[in-house]
Amino acid sequence: MTEGNFPLEEFSHLRTPFYFYNTNLLRETIRTAVAEAARYGYHLHYAVKANANPRILSIISEYGVGADCVSGGEIQAALDAGFPADKIVFAGVGKADWEIERGLENTIFCFNVESLPELEIINELATKKAKTARIALRINPEVDAHTHHHITTGKKENKFGIHPEQLDAVLDRLPSLLQVQLIGIHFHIGSQLTEIEPFQKLCNRANEIRNTLENRGFRLQIVNFGGGLGIDYEHPDAHLIPDFKTYFETFHNHFPSFPGQEIHFEPGRSMVGQCGSLISKVLYVKEGSEKKFVILDAGFTELIRPALYDAYHTIENLTSNEPEEIYDVVGPICESSDCFAKQILLNRTQRGDVIAIRSAGAYGEIMASQYNCRQLPLAYFSENRIS
Ligand code: LLP
Repeated sequence: MTEGNFPLEEFSHLRTPFYFYNTNLLRETIRTAVAEAARYGYHLHYAVKANANPRILSIISEYGVGADCVSGGEIQAALDAGFPADKIVFAGVGKADWEIERGLENTIFCFNVESLPELEIINELATKKAKTARIALRINPEVDAHTHHHITTGKKENKFGIHPEQLDAVLDRLPSLLQVQLIGIHFHIGSQLTEIEPFQKLCNRANEIRNTLENRGFRLQIVNFGGGLGIDYEHPDAHLIPDFKTYFETFHNHFPSFPGQEIHFEPGRSMVGQCGSLISKVLYVKEGSEKKFVILDAGFTELIRPALYDAYHTIENLTSNEPEEIYDVVGPICESSDCFAKQILLNRTQRGDVIAIRSAGAYGEIMASQYNCRQLPLAYFSENRIS
């Protein structure tokens, strides 16, 4: 088995579709991220939203990283998997009261606060529990991430973060909110960033914002830059492990940290994206009027990214060495958007062939649905070989 490949002979008898995770690659990726971050003393919180499979979470937690959560359910999943509460950060524009309470009860490391009304409620709920909530202000830096508009978060029109015009009002109010303690600032400009330039811009904006706060007398213990590092969907085997080195180096070069100040990150996709494939079987090959359709037993119920974001995933026929032909690869769901790829080259394909949809470890299994009364996909792991 090569790093990215699926050991077909061992798993071919299983009912498809299912997710297959290469845990060797997962471990190597996490080790690399942790080592590159450690060069600069950076802190990592894995973004649970990318993949909350309990097995994946527990492997990641072995490496001493924290967790970035966006719901009470994710906080619970992270705790269950062994992430320590004092390394959990909690973001989200719409935190429900019970979710804030869950965070307070577990004394999580930090709430990433996205608005003044939310700040007031956290203070109120913390007062009731006689707790102090550590908070970071999530500030919308108005930096364009140059990624798909559905996964851009740091622009003026996005709902995320405290908009710069509101920042003064929040800072004015903070001293009178006695049960919240400001420890830092937080940013996240978007996901699947393939250029380094937006991160440089983020560093510059963060520097300005840090100065504004420091000038007003707020001492920041942490600056959290969120996630966003992209992966290579076109050539997964060429870049199985993302370039964490350049990524962290960029922050080191463009954002000088103050003595005693910690820099935090929340990588999701880059940690788990390449280790997962969606494995599916071909049900039918159907001739259309102008093209051929490969109809899989997997659909957007198992992997929604192509339908939702026009996302590209490399697709491979694991069981054919025949000459390549051009196909549309689609699923069985009763929606035209249930299409994985249009007019791609695949080795000549027939019913029963096994297909791998690559780079599906992030935002794959976790976004699965039961639309059309389908079953949620199962997951198998390379380090738990099935006999
Ligand atoms: N931190 C915050 C506050 C976030 O909102 C996100 C992702 C991350 C960290 C992790 O970002 P990453 O390192 O994974 O880029 N479902 C979409 C992606 C949505 C990302 C949402 N936020 C997709 O399939 O592309």
